[in-house]
Amino acid sequence: MVKTAILVSGGGTNLQAIIDAHLFGEIKNCELTAVISSNPDAYAIERAQHADIPAYIVDRASFPNRATFTKALLDKLLDLDIDLAVYAGFNFILDPPFIETYRNRIINIHPSLIPSFCGLGYYGLRTHEAVLEHGVKITGATAHFATEIADDGPIILQKAVPILEDDTPKSLQQRVMEEAEWEILPRAISLFCEGRLEVDGRIVHIKEVVDDAEQP
Ligand code: GAR
Repeated sequence: MVKTAILVSGGGTNLQAIIDAHLFGEIKNCELTAVISSNPDAYAIERAQHADIPAYIVDRASFPNRATFTKALLDKLLDLDIDLAVYAGFNFILDPPFIETYRNRIINIHPSLIPSFCGLGYYGLRTHEAVLEHGVKITGATAHFATEIADDGPIILQKAVPILEDDTPKSLQQRVMEEAEWEILPRAISLFCEGRLEVDGRIVHIKEVVDDAEQP
């Protein structure tokens, strides 16, 4: 079983999608070991408690800088013997010691089709505002390995969502979550936990499942 920690900062609807998919057996070979919140008031903490997943708070506001916050998070993950970290609406870029320790073992969900509308400043509703301001006709979500650069690591899965004539940032955010994020994030976690992701530079190859019954 791959010991997985979900890192959150807010409402936790992506966390809920992971919890539900796990309950329905759609995430294979995965133990939801911990939810870690950077924000003591995040509703995601209640979602974890309802699902009987141990929840921990590593409060960003109680650390003087990013380095000490990064160290506290890294220590927590190492203490819990975590194999995979998932940023599910987690608002921070972490320092190199965290990324190096967990290189290609951190999955992030971003609410656009990377490399469009991503990077510093593109977070939550702001991303959807920028999409609508630009007038693109298709947006979506991307699950990718996180690195020290915001929204830049190797892409695992993407799903497109068309923009409707009367969309507002809120309506678009909701549809991108429902139609893309809540589907591809649990799927990306399962692919990782099943050992089906092979990273070659920027390229992630998804290995097919070999059905033993069909072997000669
Ligand atoms: C989600 O839409 C997620 O993709 C986005 O924040 C929201 C968190 O919602 N993350 C980013 O924008 C990261 N760059 P949630 O707490 O309900 O899952």
